[in-house]
Amino acid sequence: MNTVKAIYPGSFDPLTNGHLDLIARAAKIFDHLVVSILRNSSKNPLFTVEERVAMLSEGTAEFDNVSVATFDGLLVDFAREQRAHAVVRGIRAISDYEYEFQMALMNRRLSPDVETIFLMPDAKYSFVSSRLVKGVFRLGGSVDGLVPKFVVERLKDKSRTSIPEPSQ
Ligand code: PNS
Repeated sequence: MNTVKAIYPGSFDPLTNGHLDLIARAAKIFDHLVVSILRNSSKNPLFTVEERVAMLSEGTAEFDNVSVATFDGLLVDFAREQRAHAVVRGIRAISDYEYEFQMALMNRRLSPDVETIFLMPDAKYSFVSSRLVKGVFRLGGSVDGLVPKFVVERLKDKSRTSIPEPSQ
């Protein structure tokens, strides 16, 4: 039987409930979903790759068909290596669209066989991003309900001043 495998790439710095909502949706559609953390991001991450792998592993433990991986370099090369058929990305609002559209078409140019599939998270997460979560937490605001409880705990383990000020 043919199985359909997808990659859900991102920074996940940190994992949010919006990410988890998307993972749950993608896990229903694909036989296997590989949530994949970019290792060499130019962004200055708050959490190490190992911490992000640990958070994603905890958050996705309930899904039998979801695994967690890391990658370097081009996403399409990783997709080919994984023999994945699709890349899953979330679109929360129109503002996400332009960047996602560019990335999807660049990836298609690089590897025409890999399709990008866009999924929408639940509307209640449409304003949630890792960047905003870090920004709010840094200034002492509550992020309860926006990220899993174990992520709140991990944020508390970081000193608030170590959280970089968001660029926008
Ligand atoms: O969560 P993010 O930071 O929006 O995820 C961005 C990510 C990791 C999906 C993207 O930066 C990526 O795929 N980087 C790998 C490099 C690559 O393949 N670049 C060419 C496609 S534009």
